[in-house]
Amino acid sequence: MSERPYVIDQMISAKAIAARIEALCAEIQNEFKDTDKLVVVGLLRGSFVFIADLVRELDLPLEVDFLEASSYGSGMESSREVRILKDLRGAVEGRDVLVVEDIVDTGHTMHHVHALLQSRKPKRMKTIALLDKPSRREIAFKADWTGFEIPDEFVVGYGIDYAQRNRNLPYIGKVRFI
Ligand code: IMP
Ligand code: MG
Repeated sequence: MSERPYVIDQMISAKAIAARIEALCAEIQNEFKDTDKLVVVGLLRGSFVFIADLVRELDLPLEVDFLEASSYGSGMESSREVRILKDLRGAVEGRDVLVVEDIVDTGHTMHHVHALLQSRKPKRMKTIALLDKPSRREIAFKADWTGFEIPDEFVVGYGIDYAQRNRNLPYIGKVRFI
């Protein structure tokens, strides 16, 4: 695949991400302090780094499960149709659930996933997104916790890709074409 050349400008440092996760986990722990077991659901693939850091900061009895939904193709365009490519392995009925997403952009993915999991009747379900681009919203969705609100920029790193690349950057950067 031929790509336009680009550089990545750092936007949120690894240190800032770690500090924000610590603060968010204190709130999540407080919300779920009475849980018998929390099911932490990561949306593949973009949330894999975030969920790894989150669960290691949470001092709660928990399980990890994954769901893969697709809304983007291979590039920068979001398609409005959300498909479930890989469903959860476990049941969520009657369970405490925390859904972990990398970015809420148009809102279609989380709107769809939230409705799907809600239909399975969890006891209590909360959502967290590392990043939120509120100016891009096409359908209403607000995560219960958000790491950082960012402007309408295409970002990579910390699990987030551009055409499958740059997931391994330890920080969040914005793509700038040159
Ligand atoms: P939504 O359905 O438009 O809210 O899209 C959410 C999904 O689009 C996220 O899970 C990301 O995988 C992807 N996405 C949105 N913005 C970006 C970005 O800036 N960089 C990389 N992926 C993005
Ligand atoms: Mg995604």
